[in-house]
Amino acid sequence: MIGIYLSGTGNTKHCLEKLLSIVDSTAELIPIENKEAIEKIKKNDTIYLAYPTQFSNVPFMVKEFIQKNSEVWRGKKVFCMTTMGLFSGDGTGCAARLLKKYGAVIIGGLQVKMPDAVCDSKMLKKTLEENQRIIREADIRLEKAAKEIKSVNYPKEGLSIFAHMAGLFGQRLWFYGKTKGYSKKLKISDACTGCGLCAKNCPMENLRIENGKAVSSEKCTMCYRCISSCPKQAITLLGKQVVEQCRYSYYLRE
Ligand SMILES: Cc1cc2nc3c(=O)[nH]c(=O)nc-3n(C[C@H](O)[C@H](O)[C@H](O)COP(=O)(O)O)c2cc1C
Ligand code: SF4
Ligand code: SF4
Repeated sequence: MIGIYLSGTGNTKHCLEKLLSIVDSTAELIPIENKEAIEKIKKNDTIYLAYPTQFSNVPFMVKEFIQKNSEVWRGKKVFCMTTMGLFSGDGTGCAARLLKKYGAVIIGGLQVKMPDAVCDSKMLKKTLEENQRIIREADIRLEKAAKEIKSVNYPKEGLSIFAHMAGLFGQRLWFYGKTKGYSKKLKISDACTGCGLCAKNCPMENLRIENGKAVSSEKCTMCYRCISSCPKQAITLLGKQVVEQCRYSYYLRE
């Protein structure tokens, strides 16, 4: 068993770690951008695939990862997990349907509410205490789900036709344009000092340093990792100003 994940601000990584620490503490967790991810999938029968919900859809990078490696999924048992700020409808179902098309057997789905990751929007922003409560509740849910999985009673969240309708009409239909490809809209302000942190950590290798400043290409998967960690708060995407650098590790402080 292995866990493959995309995580921009740390929520999804935390949730997958928590779940698998109970389901199978020997399971290896691999970030989706790791070059060895595909080889590891080939060698394992059961895959836990986790990613953040984006506009009730799968981040484009994850979708492309599934499609580009369509030959590796046949016969694999896949559990899909998504984390979300509020609502995802069929956040797991979107990847599950694609995986099924390539021959995977979907064994379950879990959709976990976590703090919102959109650092440059005031919408959905919560106090530190509220975010800490959300994380505590998520941990309880994950423990419960892990115990169910261990007794071969897999949660099926986001996989039903009702969830499909909720995701489609609740959000995806109106925002489909946002996740149908990579974003070209990342903005880097003059506050950038060229420290290179963003370029080092981007899962898409979408950023580089040129003449002492960060420069973005046109392959951003909107994970918000760079935006949430830039020491100068110089990066924005959907909004115009960084409101709060959302990071799972930050919410853990007392
Ligand atoms: C571009 C973008 C779109 C998002 N869309 C949704 C959404 O449709 N519904 C939702 O509940 N949360 C949404 N979120 C919030 C994230 O899914 C949520 O914060 C997630 O836990 C982040 O996980 P991560 O820290 O692993 O990146 C969105 C976040 C981003 C960055
Ligand atoms: S992390 Fe921020 S300051 Fe550092 S290079 Fe990137 S944009 Fe510039
Ligand atoms: S440019 Fe930033 S938001 Fe876009 S994929 Fe890279 S780290 Fe994520």
